[in-house]
Amino acid sequence: MNHKPRVVVLTGAGISAESGLKTFRDNDGLWEQHRVEDVATPEAFAANPDLVYRFYNQRREQLQMPEVVPNAAHRALARLERALGDSFLLVTQNVDDLHERAGSNRVVHMHGRLLSARCCTSGLSHTWNSGFDALTPCPCCSPSGQLRPDIVWFGEMPLQMDRIILALSRADLFIAIGTSGQVYPAAGFVQMAADSGARSVELNLQPSDQCGMFDESQQGPASATVPAFVEGLLQQWSIS
Ligand code: APR
Repeated sequence: MNHKPRVVVLTGAGISAESGLKTFRDNDGLWEQHRVEDVATPEAFAANPDLVYRFYNQRREQLQMPEVVPNAAHRALARLERALGDSFLLVTQNVDDLHERAGSNRVVHMHGRLLSARCCTSGLSHTWNSGFDALTPCPCCSPSGQLRPDIVWFGEMPLQMDRIILALSRADLFIAIGTSGQVYPAAGFVQMAADSGARSVELNLQPSDQCGMFDESQQGPASATVPAFVEGLLQQWSIS
């Protein structure tokens, strides 16, 4: 290989579970407490905006609790990025900022971000660390603009898909971490990676429904499996 290995990593809620953030489909997950159609669709926002604002304000507040910090898995991916530079891309389905707080920079938030508000009029995103609702003036279009959570809801287009598809088409290695592989288009990335000839690895607490599609599947908590796997890659590639 006459270039640094090109690696695409996909993360899901499982990588943030040990940091204290709920996943969606595990026991006591977010979708056990709320129906997707009540809090995570454009129709839900139109029908009952206050419930949707409250759902994301609560998650934003929880994310900023002092005990919610990046774990060893987040830090290991930041280390891998430092070793690989622009041969590395981290695509996350998560809307938390734990990858960035662990030191990752090359991050694509394909489902949006909790710490951001989007103007319904201009479409502009604004960094936002506190709660907001229908009465919160929008920084760009006040007083007319209304803010919405800067989240990609079901039925909406995930972000930066062109960049993701290009990276997958060139990848030597695709690693999926902490995702149940039930939501497309992310659930289709393993097949796209395979079609490009990339090796694929799943690191998950338990085998996902898709684990048979991966060349390799390791089970265990991400804070244990990810640092060990990254260490192994760096030794294999003789990159310190
Ligand atoms: N370490 C590794 N994996 C874990 C851990 C852990 N400590 N804890 C849980 N997991 C795994 C679970 O086994 C499960 O397969 O993480 C996965 C979490 O799956 P989901 O809850 O479905 O979350 P995710 O795959 O990220 O959901 C994808 O669905 O609702 C939408 O937009 C939402 O981005 C989300 C998307």
